[in-house]
Amino acid sequence: MKTVVITGGGRGLGRVTAEKLAAAGCRVILVARSATPATAAAQEIRRAHTDAVVEPRWVDLSSQAQIRAFAEAVIRQHEPIDVLFHVAGVMQTSRTRRLSADGLEETLAVNVLAPYLLTGLLLPALDQAPSARVVTVSSRLHLPGSRGEPVDFDFADPQLEHGYNPDRAYKNSKLAVLWFTYELQRRLASRPITANAVCPGFVPSTAAASTHGAMHALMTLLMPHMPFATSVDAATESLVFMALDPSLDGVGGRSSANATRSSPAPSPSTSTEPNASGTSRPTSPASTDSDDSDAGNARPASTSTARCPGGRCSGPLSC
Ligand SMILES: NC(=O)c1ccc[n+]([C@@H]2O[C@H](COP(=O)([O-])OP(=O)(O)OC[C@H]3O[C@@H](n4cnc5c(N)ncnc54)[C@H](OP(=O)(O)O)[C@@H]3O)[C@@H](O)[C@H]2O)c1
Repeated sequence: MKTVVITGGGRGLGRVTAEKLAAAGCRVILVARSATPATAAAQEIRRAHTDAVVEPRWVDLSSQAQIRAFAEAVIRQHEPIDVLFHVAGVMQTSRTRRLSADGLEETLAVNVLAPYLLTGLLLPALDQAPSARVVTVSSRLHLPGSRGEPVDFDFADPQLEHGYNPDRAYKNSKLAVLWFTYELQRRLASRPITANAVCPGFVPSTAAASTHGAMHALMTLLMPHMPFATSVDAATESLVFMALDPSLDGVGGRSSANATRSSPAPSPSTSTEPNASGTSRPTSPASTDSDDSDAGNARPASTSTARCPGGRCSGPLSC
């Protein structure tokens, strides 16, 4: 039985993915921010799937002390972790810059630093699995042409102390988790652990949780029926695929930018990596991984053919 640690398990895509993983026979360590959603989700999943093995945990991912305490408890169990799934994410709407308990800009803290810290602390348990996966939920919103403020990661101001904008904070964070994923894969190359990222597509039904008023009504009632929307079911199928599909065994350093197909693209064509000037913007759309369309809902095909598009190299860290 595979053990999966999944964050964001209390609601949204993380909650549904946790249920699908439990139904697929995994032991799921379901992490939510607080006790009530964690235990409620675990109970609901056990009610729906009598054989499900779901263990609720609560960790506020904006608190590094809580992340450390959780990781220490997991490590103390001396059990392997097969999949570490970073699903939790925050998208602020207020123009007021919020700080975490550690005094860090909250979007950066939850979306980037939490996966970084948790992965590092859980490496001993990932190392114990015969073949482990670290999967991080990214977003293609950082790509050129997306609505709102463009991505602009300034290494002189990573916490947006100057000119905070919630949109930019989110896009920057989702670009940064791609860098994290690619760099993690590079550093783990000699170990049987892979790191990949997946964008679920635009899923209004769950994204609505970060909205209010008229926008909330639009996101819950109208947008799920638009052709550009991805359903919760399709989005979570692609998340489960990244966590479990055998075609991804040993394949890392990839980003799947479309819920409807697999073929995660090799790094780092999705985006620029930090450049010498310390700022970074995504490259032109032509150099992004998958396209932005969500047409069709076919289950992702095998990625075993996912190779460097230019044929320059063959390994999972090609290009
Ligand atoms: N929906 C989309 O269109 C879309 C598109 C691209 C990427 N994504 C990404 O997909 C992931 C899941 O999003 P979703 O659509 O399911 O949104 P969601 O319903 O808002 O879920 C976000 C999850 O993150 C958790 N979370 C936020 N801050 C946390 C913290 N400090 N500590 C612990 N947990 C925290 C939330 O827990 P609480 O209930 O406690 O807040 C919730 O479970 C996110 O990473 C999001 O950025 C979503």
